[in-house]
Amino acid sequence: MDWGAVIVAAGSGKRMGAGMNKAYLPLNGRPVLAHTLEAFEACGAVTEIVIVAAAGEEAQAEALAREHGIRKLTAVIPGGAERQDSVYAGLAALRAEGALVHDAARPLVTPERIAACCAAAEESGAAALAVPVKDTIKLSDGGGMIVSTPERSLLWAVQTPQAFGRVELMDAHERARREGAQATDDAMLLERLGRKVAIVESDYANLKITTPEDLPIAELLLERRRR
Ligand code: CTP
Ligand code: MG
Repeated sequence: MDWGAVIVAAGSGKRMGAGMNKAYLPLNGRPVLAHTLEAFEACGAVTEIVIVAAAGEEAQAEALAREHGIRKLTAVIPGGAERQDSVYAGLAALRAEGALVHDAARPLVTPERIAACCAAAEESGAAALAVPVKDTIKLSDGGGMIVSTPERSLLWAVQTPQAFGRVELMDAHERARREGAQATDDAMLLERLGRKVAIVESDYANLKITTPEDLPIAELLLERRRR
């Protein structure tokens, strides 16, 4: 099965507070997005890469990919208001039978993890990388009070990439759009249709660069990997 990757990089990085899109912040001297693209370029299962860039940043994204030798790049597409809109826009530009969706903000992903996610999806239909939750999680009433505590041994923090049949994922997105359903990841869109998504145990190092303290942690992890 051939796999196309949609790399979503069209956010604004509000929680990072850097005054710019965090995808272009340097990590050990190279932009976050460059690290991310290199992992997909190096993964044999991936045949095409589509970058979803913020409107106005398409040229910057394309130049970055060229500069870092990303030969599998087939398109740079402008994103939408929400992550879900950006994924949908990117999916329309894919041709491969399988669709991988990945956050540009996870630059520590490895070719091996990407391949493991593809293999699990080939077996189960759809798959997502995830790690067991370390903290005890509380459900709140939205007003500062605890309501309940879900059983931790059943909780997983989901990551990307997530892997699907391209047509099935596109269909799930179209249905969600018609029905006004919002999702913070792509697995949710299949869950709401009662479809199965397999969990592929990943590692904690595949973190999402979200707040300022994530940057030095990611730099240390990258540094350690090189040794
Ligand atoms: N993303 C996107 N289009 C959007 C929103 C997010 O392509 N409209 C992408 C981001 O660029 C990021 C990934 O989705 O790679 C995960 O989103 P998140 O970590 O929330 O990034 P931002 O939305 O940029 O950050 P914040 O929520 O703090 O503003
Ligand atoms: Mg966001």
